Amino acid sequence: MKHTLIKTEIPGPESKALSARRKVSSASPMDSLAPFYIKKGFGAAIEDVDGNRFLDFTGGWGCLVTGYSPESVVRAVKAQAENFLHSDFTVIPYEPWVQLSEMLAEKARGTAEKAVAFFNSGAEAVENAVKIARGATRRRSIVVFEGAFHGRTLLTMTMTHRPMPYKYLFGTAPDVYRLPYPNPRKNKYAAEDFEKLLLENVCPEDVAAVVIEPIQGEGGFNVPPEGFLKEIRRVTSKYGILMVADEVQSGYGRTGKFFAIQNWGVEPDLITLGKSIAGGLPLSAVVGDKKLFDALPKSSIGSTYGGNPLGCAAAIEIIKMIDEQKLLERAVYLGKIIRKRFEGFKGKYPAIKEVRGVGAMLAIEFIKDEESWSPDTETCQKVIQEARDNGVILAGAGLHKNVIRLLLPLVITDEQLVEGLDIIDKAIGTATKAQPRKPKAKK
Ligand SMILES: Cc1ncc(COP(=O)(O)O)c(C=O)c1O
Repeated sequence: MKHTLIKTEIPGPESKALSARRKVSSASPMDSLAPFYIKKGFGAAIEDVDGNRFLDFTGGWGCLVTGYSPESVVRAVKAQAENFLHSDFTVIPYEPWVQLSEMLAEKARGTAEKAVAFFNSGAEAVENAVKIARGATRRRSIVVFEGAFHGRTLLTMTMTHRPMPYKYLFGTAPDVYRLPYPNPRKNKYAAEDFEKLLLENVCPEDVAAVVIEPIQGEGGFNVPPEGFLKEIRRVTSKYGILMVADEVQSGYGRTGKFFAIQNWGVEPDLITLGKSIAGGLPLSAVVGDKKLFDALPKSSIGSTYGGNPLGCAAAIEIIKMIDEQKLLERAVYLGKIIRKRFEGFKGKYPAIKEVRGVGAMLAIEFIKDEESWSPDTETCQKVIQEARDNGVILAGAGLHKNVIRLLLPLVITDEQLVEGLDIIDKAIGTATKAQPRKPKAKK
């Protein structure tokens, strides 16, 4: 049985009618990747308002590690809604917050005792991690990296690298320093160079935190070279700087570990979480060394809806689901299948020059010319459109939008995965009109 079904032109008539209505009163800068409107989601698949069925390999921008509306999560949210929708934990506290804190502290267990605070969005978690770091160290500066994405509020937008569309027109926040990210194609930057680069750019005594995505998400699934995260840990500890792992995208199991940074055996001082934490409900968290939270005055962090009881109820079930359905192992298993196919694409289509990532967090990069490593944005965008019109929703990434990244639900079935990869294969073929790569002439 096929899991995708395209029965109208894309977008279909109902989606077109909604787009016409949207033009009138929905703010235009908030555009969408898909030109069609969702009616229902199930597992890794969705049906649009015209009855077309797609596989969602973006997982709602990475929020759906456990898929669309898993039964146990829906049940828990309904039960919570019947008890109370809201009280504000800082007015009347509730058990789901306490239980979820215990579960996340356990997941992050290391040498330091852990505590957890909840917020609404990834950006809000990063903002608060910075506040906690500044408050606990009594220092101001924040160090981030080229290719980073940390959000769209004033501070997190400043921490984010890509100017267009994220920063252009909007101004910046002070005290943010950006260091190069090791990239064998662009620089000869080895892990041991981190300390030198840090000292050349900022006074370490001023630095509250180095914030890093253990695997860059928006930046194009850039994986740090061996030893880089360990070196950051060593250098930050040496200068009394905190290390913050932004796991908003890389966390929650998609790399085969609950937190991506666990792939390198590094324990950061703070971890930011969002996206898949509550299966799509607006919840985020900062998990980290309890002493850092205890260094702050009462009521100095918080937010009205932060750690909303519906989000906490969903998030508890999501952790149970990850454990019971062994989704970490599944990420490794899916990753092997995807990597094999992606390596096959690389062999078959000259436009694809690199496959990278960890576990099921995998990407392919489109390059025009290997010598100069110049991005092939056009082909990449064509592939995304072609795949979408044939039933697979894909997300781009990278400073030049020349990377396709998979953030698929780990509950995807084997058959759905193969069907989706076949559609991507065909889409690349159509977009590049590629002849299979010619075998190299024998000397
Ligand atoms: C690594 C990372 N940090 C922070 C954010 C911001 O999250 P939100 O959009 O929920 O504010 C994102 C969003 O994509 C992200 O990928």
